[in-house]
Amino acid sequence: AIYQATTSAPVNIACIKYWGKRDTTLILPTNSSLSVTLSQDHLRSTTTSQADPSFKETRLWLNGKEEDIKSGGRLERCLKELKKMRKERIEDKDHNAPKLSEWNIHVASYNNFPTAAGLASSASGFAALTSSIAALYDLNNFSPSSSAKPSAASPSELSLVARLGSGSACRSLFGGFVAWEAGSLPSGTDSLAVQVAPQEHWPTLHALICVVNDAKKGTSSTSGMQRTVETSALLQHRIKEVVPQRMDAIIKAIKEKDFDTFAKITTADSNQFHAVALDTAPPIFYMNDVSRSIISIIEELNRVSLLNTGHLVAAYTFDAGPNAVIYTEEKNVKQIIELVLRYFPQAESNPFPDPFQLFGGKQ
Ligand code: DP6
Repeated sequence: AIYQATTSAPVNIACIKYWGKRDTTLILPTNSSLSVTLSQDHLRSTTTSQADPSFKETRLWLNGKEEDIKSGGRLERCLKELKKMRKERIEDKDHNAPKLSEWNIHVASYNNFPTAAGLASSASGFAALTSSIAALYDLNNFSPSSSAKPSAASPSELSLVARLGSGSACRSLFGGFVAWEAGSLPSGTDSLAVQVAPQEHWPTLHALICVVNDAKKGTSSTSGMQRTVETSALLQHRIKEVVPQRMDAIIKAIKEKDFDTFAKITTADSNQFHAVALDTAPPIFYMNDVSRSIISIIEELNRVSLLNTGHLVAAYTFDAGPNAVIYTEEKNVKQIIELVLRYFPQAESNPFPDPFQLFGGKQ
């Protein structure tokens, strides 16, 4: 191909959960959310996109297998936005610029973690897709030259595009601690991701990923959250009364590196998310017995630690599946892995390099 670009984006794990859309086409959420992006070298998607005037159609490969591109689907909506940016910012201004926006593209994306690990790949996938096409179209501002190009799109602008692919993807455009501001405009132009703090701000915070079950989940996030919006009264309370305070408090905790508050809010928000799933009709269960044992282990660890030291040791959080993510400070990583392995001796530790552990547990 004449033009080609490759970029990657890591997985992010939410501490304040996104669950519910007010607009299902533009993917506008019912509440703001906040996540931690894992470090670049661990769980990530890498995407190469190519543009060539001879391409007959736009094509997509995921982990080496070609996928159908649904007309009017999420990929097409992202691509349409990026083509519009290319045309308005570059081709309309510089008539010598190649008309890449009129060409078909080929996109190939790989995850460096097994799909079988049961970890959400849509967040890193759509973030990598967006940044790769932005680079292909010369819209990225991370050029080696110091001065930003006038055509450059900021990560927050690109987050608006990634959001059209999958809500949680908008947060993977940034590293470190990231807020997705729900916004209020019907157009969605204020529903974007912003960085709260870079990873270097709190480098001792680690995420341990416990793969409880690597089977594909029962109810997808997309359909599950819509059912919650339609049927759960508890969700309305969460949106209005709970999340706004938690967003302010967790941002403050992150800025102050206050682990106790960070952990308290993270666990409470995971538990409320699973409560609104249960409050959905018919109810949705994402956690299983192993997930609940992990909760008990961490709660007991924190109870004892609070008595002895006055501080919490760990926070757990679960997305739309049974796998646990445990946040802890570096000094406690070893102790927690040993503790979990004591309860689940058949689990294997460490297929990924430190600090992100993967426990391949069998049930
Ligand atoms: C539980 O971003 O996968 O992980 O926008 O429909 O693609 P769509 O949903 P998705 O939902 C993620 C839900 C969650 C919580 C979170 O990541 O905030």
